[in-house]
Amino acid sequence: MIITCKISEVRELVRKWRSEGHTIGLVPTMGYLHEGHASLVDKAVAMCGRVIASDFVNPTQFAPGEDLESYPRDFDRDCRLLEEHGCHAVFHPDVSEMYSPGYATYVEILSDMPKQLCGRTRPIHFRGVCTVVSKLFNIVTPDKAFFGEKDAQQLAIIRRMTEDMSYGIEIIGCPIVREADGLAKSSRNTYLSPKERKAALILSRSIFLGRKMADSGETDALKITDAMRKLIESEPLARIDYVSAVNGTTMEPVREAVKGTLIAIAVYIGKTRLIDNFTV
Ligand code: PAJ
Repeated sequence: MIITCKISEVRELVRKWRSEGHTIGLVPTMGYLHEGHASLVDKAVAMCGRVIASDFVNPTQFAPGEDLESYPRDFDRDCRLLEEHGCHAVFHPDVSEMYSPGYATYVEILSDMPKQLCGRTRPIHFRGVCTVVSKLFNIVTPDKAFFGEKDAQQLAIIRRMTEDMSYGIEIIGCPIVREADGLAKSSRNTYLSPKERKAALILSRSIFLGRKMADSGETDALKITDAMRKLIESEPLARIDYVSAVNGTTMEPVREAVKGTLIAIAVYIGKTRLIDNFTV
């Protein structure tokens, strides 16, 4: 696997791959990789001749006071996982490679879409995500890019941005990978103490409850989110940020849970904020 920290080297590599006739897949990550990330790489390897992952903790998507400094990092372990899954290259830039002195340009969706759900407590988050992903799209110029449904709002926003900016890149969504007991895999799960790890199961339990209600024909979104909310509130270590039903494409709040409705939650377990969701 090729490891590079330089934009110019990525461009050169991609030029070579293209001249050899390969389709190119991009898997953007912030590192500290787990099987959720690996599932994106697996899908990319299955669908593309060459796959490049990015491993970059993007400072512009963290607000002051968020976990930028403490965000877990282990690049050597990431490389081993990527290589095991057949990834061909990893791009691991320094902050200065991505944001040179005087950096002043951002990509931002101006509708309410990034203001819903996670945007309510993280107002600059999706501007940072769109900016870095748009830079990665410009650097790699992939045919396809792979994102997890775990971050459903991020995926919807990337789809919007890709369409709006005419990137001509196919965005592939990949299902949520969970631990054996149901907890959605996340780099942030490492923040949890053993007691919090147990309490965190309330997220997936509420997701499974909501899904069961929807599967049984319940279409009143409020009934579903209320039941989920009650269940989460039964866990003393949990504090709800949101339990919401929105249109899965536009992120606009909805009252009816119909096909394509996204039911998404964000819950603090102690100081750690975790997210999960399902689509009806
Ligand atoms: P990160 O949190 O590292 O996630 C990278 C990709 O892995 C995202 O598309 C995310 O949805 C996916 N992912 C994470 N956990 C998953 C799980 N349990 N199952 C399936 N997919 C999962 O998301 C980001 O990084 C950043 O915002 C990024 C897009 C890289 C921009 O900086």
